Amino acid sequence: MSAGGPDFVVTLDGPAASGKSTVARRVAEALAVPCVSSGLLYRAATALVARAGVDPGDAAAVLAELARHRVELLPGIAGDVLRVDGEDVTRSVQSDEVDAVVSRVAAHPVVRAWVGDRLREMPAPFVVDGRDMGSVVFPHAPHKFYLDASPEVRAARRVGERAADLAVVAEAIRRRDGLDARQLKPATDAQHLDTGPLTLDEVVGWVLDRIGRGTTP
Ligand code: CDP
Ligand code: CDP
Repeated sequence: MSAGGPDFVVTLDGPAASGKSTVARRVAEALAVPCVSSGLLYRAATALVARAGVDPGDAAAVLAELARHRVELLPGIAGDVLRVDGEDVTRSVQSDEVDAVVSRVAAHPVVRAWVGDRLREMPAPFVVDGRDMGSVVFPHAPHKFYLDASPEVRAARRVGERAADLAVVAEAIRRRDGLDARQLKPATDAQHLDTGPLTLDEVVGWVLDRIGRGTTP
C-alpha cells in the first residue's frame, strides 16, 4: 500500500473546530493526494432545504429536495470544492445559519446513507474528514485519526475565523456537539489526539509520523 494506492484512505474525525479540515488539507498536500470534507455534503443538503423552505425534520422531504439538484463534491489536493447545480458554494455553506440546522438534517439515516454513497463512489487515494468516516463510512481505512480539543479552545479557533462573540460561539459548539453525539463516537481503532495545546504544524506532523510519512526521526 502506498499513498498512491487504491486502498489508501486516511480518516480524520472529530468535533466542530477540532482542526480536522485544515489538518486534512495539509496532510493531503504533504502526501500529494486529494482531500474530501464530508461535512460539505451535509451542509449542501442543509442549504438546499433552507432555500426551499423544507422542514429539516422531514427526512423524505429532505431527500426529495436533494433529488431535485445536482450536488457535486470535487476532491482536490489544495482542498475540495462543493458545487450545487454548477455553482461553487464551498464557502457560502460554512455559515452560522447552516451550522444551526445541519445536525438536524444529518440525523436522518436516509441522508447519512446518501452522503455515504457519494463518498464511497470517490476513487482512493484520499484524506477524508468528518464525524463517522473511520467508524461507519470507511471502516477498513488503514489510517484513522480522531482529533479533539475542549469546547473553549474550539470556540476560540472559530472566533479567529468568523467575526463573532466567544460566548455565543462556545454555546453553539456545545449545542452541536450534543446533537452530533451519536455520529461523534470515534472508531475503536482510531488514534486520538488532543490538539488543544498543539500548533497546526505539530498536529500535521503527528498525523504524518503515524502514517509513516513524517520527518521525525
Ligand atoms: O467543520 P465543522 O466540524 O464545524 O463542520 P462540518 O465537518 O462541515 O460538519 C457539519 C455538520 O455535518 C456536523 O455538525 C454534523 O452534524 C454533520 N456531519 C456528520 O454528521 N457526519 C460527518 N461525517 C460530517 C459532518
Ligand atoms: O474542520 P474543523 O471544523 O474541525 O476545524 P478547522 O476549520 O479545520 O479549524 C478551525 C481553526 O482552528 C482553523 O482556523 C485552524 O487553523 C485552527 N487551528 C487548528 O485547527 N489546530 C490547531 N492546533 C491550532 C489552530
